[in-house]
Amino acid sequence: MKIGIIFYSQSGKTATVAQKLLEKFTDKGHAANLEQITISGSTPAQPGKFELTDLPRVEEYDAIVFGSPVQAFALNPVMKAYLATLPEMAEQETACFVTKQLPLLKTGGTQAINYMEKACASKGMVIVGSEIVVWSKGKKGDQNISRAVENLSHAVLTSNP
Ligand SMILES: Cc1cc2nc3c(=O)[nH]c(=O)nc-3n(C[C@H](O)[C@H](O)[C@H](O)COP(=O)(O)O)c2cc1C
Repeated sequence: MKIGIIFYSQSGKTATVAQKLLEKFTDKGHAANLEQITISGSTPAQPGKFELTDLPRVEEYDAIVFGSPVQAFALNPVMKAYLATLPEMAEQETACFVTKQLPLLKTGGTQAINYMEKACASKGMVIVGSEIVVWSKGKKGDQNISRAVENLSHAVLTSNP
């Protein structure tokens, strides 16, 4: 199947997870593409102070995974702005992930994932899985990424074999 991994990454962490996901799908014999959302304007992105410069297309995929950082206890505004541009995509199989730094509860992960899921569902997409990846250096961080990649790939491939 053809899978699009569409992500925004300010400092490279979400991109790292997206790359590992790409490798997982490719290893399993699927055609996967990484598609990065880019902006001009303020960094870190502030609502109303940036413009989307690359808008990955979504039409050609059997399944899509969206990835974004958490920012200020919420979904990064770039991903919010990008999701708002999407067309109606009835029954599109979709998974979501966010990366974040703070390990504690109530520091934006759940809020960000809920926002993504709702925005996708409002376009008719079917959410098959979602993951919150807490970024940290060393073994623990690696384990968090591996687990998320495993769960997301399993969710996507089993719902759409
Ligand atoms: C302006 C800013 C705000 C952030 N706010 C949060 C936050 O509320 N909660 C959290 O867990 N991490 C927060 N972080 C950390 C990022 O979510 C984390 O480093 C993320 O993995 C970065 O992804 P990226 O490298 O793909 O941009 C923030 C980072 C920045 C730069």
